[in-house]
Amino acid sequence: MVRQTSLSVDNLIYPLFVVPGIGIKREIGSMPGCFQQSVDFIVQEAVELRSLGIPALILFGIPDSKDETGSAAFKEDGVVQSAIRAIKEAVPGMFVITDVCMCEYTSHGHCGIVEKGEVDNDKTLSLLIQEALSHARAGADMVAPSDMMDGRVGAIRNALDREGFKGIPIMSYAAKYASAFYGPFRDAAESAPQFGDRRSYQMDPANRKEALKEVALDIEEGADIIMVKPALSYLDVISDVKASFVLPVAAYNVSGEYSMVKAAARLGWIDEQRVMMEMLTSIKRAGADIILTYFAKDAARLLNNQWK
Ligand code: PBG
Repeated sequence: MVRQTSLSVDNLIYPLFVVPGIGIKREIGSMPGCFQQSVDFIVQEAVELRSLGIPALILFGIPDSKDETGSAAFKEDGVVQSAIRAIKEAVPGMFVITDVCMCEYTSHGHCGIVEKGEVDNDKTLSLLIQEALSHARAGADMVAPSDMMDGRVGAIRNALDREGFKGIPIMSYAAKYASAFYGPFRDAAESAPQFGDRRSYQMDPANRKEALKEVALDIEEGADIIMVKPALSYLDVISDVKASFVLPVAAYNVSGEYSMVKAAARLGWIDEQRVMMEMLTSIKRAGADIILTYFAKDAARLLNNQWK
């Protein structure tokens, strides 16, 4: 009766990694319980998410081949585009979100066009537009740009409106820090930068106020949901963002945060279920309305009393 924070299955979004082919389900070494999967298995995941009551998933694509400009990101029959269509056909009620970013598709692993050894923010925008549009055409319910290039929310919003996708919202990775907690994800998405790092476009972990500036810019450009990422080392930022803006706040409980729990639990050093619930509750308590987490299915099983 007096509990001040409650976690609900409705708050969860489950990330999935799609690969080309059929019949493929490969566990990601550094993320036990998470898989790279072909579209047929991704559809089975969507069915399971539905039965657990998880309302939404977010898709990350790992293409067959990568090139300098990440052209596989906006192919009509690309991995993500195919997965969207298949999920929507099999589980129409599932809310399908897509990650809009170039890093999974570029040979150099950066989130944008590289010129003279540097990521060119402005030239990247046209690629992100093409990627977002191709997801919308395939039937995505929401797009989530994660690259942190300046101006991309406005550019994508304009393009979606112009092409007849006025009703598709944008969840922007508004305050995304240059974090070592993304390590396991880069294994999963095969997207580690081949040179340098992402510090020219992601934020310095030491900066708190800058997050408010980044969020305000994305809202001005038309973001519908604003995200803070990672979650656990940035609970103060989540709290600030929640207090300063009225839009729904999402937080990404990232790969490294997940893998550390899995590893420690395997060693018998912590109680996995309790640590998981404590972490998710803390993210909610800090102010997140929505949590993207690889724990979504496990947490849902506990919340639904379906734990086996
Ligand atoms: C970039 C992207 C990243 C994550 C989500 N989108 C990695 C990065 O910026 O290097 C990380 C998610 C995670 O660690 O779980 N497309």
